[in-house]
Amino acid sequence: MSIKKTKKIKEDLDYLKNKINSLNHDYYVLDDPKVLDYEYDIIFQKLIALEELFPDLISEDSPTQRVGGKPLPKFETVNHKQQMLSLNNVFYLKDLALYMKRLEKKLSIDMENIKFSAEPKLDGLAINLLYENGILAVAATRGDGATGENVTKNIKTIKSIPLKLIGQSFPKTLEIRGEVFISKKGFQSINSSNNEKKFANPRNAAAGSLRQLDPKIAASRPLEAFFYSIGYCSENFNINSQKQILEKLSNWGFKVSNLNMSVSGISGCESFYKKIYSMRDSIPYEIDGIVYKVDDLNFQKKLGFVSRAPRWAIAHKFPAEEKITTIESVRFQVGRTGVLTPVASLKPVEVGGVIVSNATLHNMDEIIKKDIHIGDNVSIRRAGDVIPEIVRVTKKSKLRKKIKLPKNCPCPISSKIEKEKDMVFAKCTGNKNCPAQKKGAIIHYVSKKAMDIQGIGEKLIGRLVDESILNNISDLYKLNNKILKNFVINTAVREDSGKKYEITLKEKSIKNILKSIEDKMEVKLSNFIYSLGISEVGEVTAKILANKYHSIDKLSKAKYDDIIKLKDIGPVAALNIYNFFNEKSNIDIINKIMNSGLKIINNNKARTNILNNGVYVITGKLKNLSRQKLSDHILENGGNLSNTVSKKTTALIVGLDPGSKLDKANKLGIKIISDDEFYKIIKL
Ligand code: IVH
Repeated sequence: MSIKKTKKIKEDLDYLKNKINSLNHDYYVLDDPKVLDYEYDIIFQKLIALEELFPDLISEDSPTQRVGGKPLPKFETVNHKQQMLSLNNVFYLKDLALYMKRLEKKLSIDMENIKFSAEPKLDGLAINLLYENGILAVAATRGDGATGENVTKNIKTIKSIPLKLIGQSFPKTLEIRGEVFISKKGFQSINSSNNEKKFANPRNAAAGSLRQLDPKIAASRPLEAFFYSIGYCSENFNINSQKQILEKLSNWGFKVSNLNMSVSGISGCESFYKKIYSMRDSIPYEIDGIVYKVDDLNFQKKLGFVSRAPRWAIAHKFPAEEKITTIESVRFQVGRTGVLTPVASLKPVEVGGVIVSNATLHNMDEIIKKDIHIGDNVSIRRAGDVIPEIVRVTKKSKLRKKIKLPKNCPCPISSKIEKEKDMVFAKCTGNKNCPAQKKGAIIHYVSKKAMDIQGIGEKLIGRLVDESILNNISDLYKLNNKILKNFVINTAVREDSGKKYEITLKEKSIKNILKSIEDKMEVKLSNFIYSLGISEVGEVTAKILANKYHSIDKLSKAKYDDIIKLKDIGPVAALNIYNFFNEKSNIDIINKIMNSGLKIINNNKARTNILNNGVYVITGKLKNLSRQKLSDHILENGGNLSNTVSKKTTALIVGLDPGSKLDKANKLGIKIISDDEFYKIIKL
């Protein structure tokens, strides 16, 4: 083909592509169609026909490339050019006020004069689009913030997303961030179609659709996207505020929420929140709160970040949804320490997109305080991943039945239940003989933060306890090929005789179980102490004990008076620790474990004194290391750990989504640092 002819065809293709892209923008972004559907179809068919004749000239930004391609074998990973951040949350106005006070202090401006971009918090998935020379090159999910999954093919099926930026003025390399979601209507239509999987809520539907390896499936789902920020940008251009960023995004062709608004001060934020909250049901897509972003980019720079979240923005979350349902019955569950937890069986009800049929009642005192009876109507609340709980009784049933603490444990040996007058919790007195407690203790022992023995799950532990193969944690080390094979054969025989056993252990899984125990024959002292499952001894307390006593032997001989003197260990925990090591059966179990060859190492001895005996508290999810590792660094550098913020705290180390500890530290004027800043102090 002559150069001239190729040029002409390219021009024709460009004309058609630009025309369709522009019609798409009118239709999907501006909600303002400029032509009739059949006119659009004619232009589209022309493009298809021309591309079929000249397949070599098909370009990445052609609208015909939105659908199609073969299913991927797996998603490739993509490194974001700039990290994708998260947001810290507040739920209450008083916490928003604390946040504003901090801004006021850091910026030295009266809080009422600080300008914000107030935006709905879309409840979907964050997405990062990379444009090279104005053309969409890669689309990736957020992943861990640094690396996500390459979902370019699926993203291209979203017609409102520009394959090519509008206009001429854009940086050569540019990352655009926003949220992919499915509208409430779209969610209903997916769920009502017969042959499709049912999703719990629009967010799950969006996630499930975006993570389809077959782009044709993604194309069939009503995915939408709004955009709200710029990530990496290869050139400096004249933008001074979040407001201007939103305008720029819109000018480049992105869909931007039409609810975004510029507001001033806490009063402006509050009234925006109230307005959006009141119209929440009429908004066609799910939002779970409001995001306030300090508008001025220079101020943003000045405020910076703590861990993975900016100091210049905060999410003001809507209260968790509440629904009313009926308590049908109440059962009692026994945990590893023998504590009985009353659990209500509810008439199933949908709360926040999930069907809820159980809710914890915490303990008997709670039941009395809230005056809860079987048969009552109650309101149920579910916040995020939290276990649903009963807020209050909304209507007392005429036939209401009192919830009674059982006299005996619901387990097969039905030991007596005990509740002392001033104790909140009722306990099963079966202790080590109660199968429910046995199971709980072993499940805790193998769990991730404890011994982290991976190949053996809850169900299997339950069966092995039922068969009396496991009676306590030391029995794990007795397991061998023969015992497990016999177990398989016995359960198989039982299956024949009508009893249903779901587990059939294959040769390979037997090997895996034994290997995973073998792999964890060396453990840190603090992990081992935590694994013992002593009531009230969490990870931090275990570390404090390890740091003080350096060996199980010394700890087991510690006097109550010495334990209680340790910083941050209260009287109840101290008594539990003392009692635990003064019970012969516990010492026997520990000895058996040691005799099986478990090596306990104490590597938390202080190596430096950089932290000068200061007291450190950790809150939130950490960016770089696990909480355990960070705690190790504190101890190894001559610091102390504590669970609670007090006047004695040297600094609070804050990760993502910090809890109430951050508020307390702010109130007490305690130093707040990110884990990054902490590593700088100890020069990691
Ligand atoms: S800004 C530093 N703006 O919320 C800025 N995020 O909890 C980080 N989200 O990962 C994001 N609507 O998926 C921003 N208007 C909005 C948002 C928004 C929803 C999501 C986003 C982010 C998550 C953080």
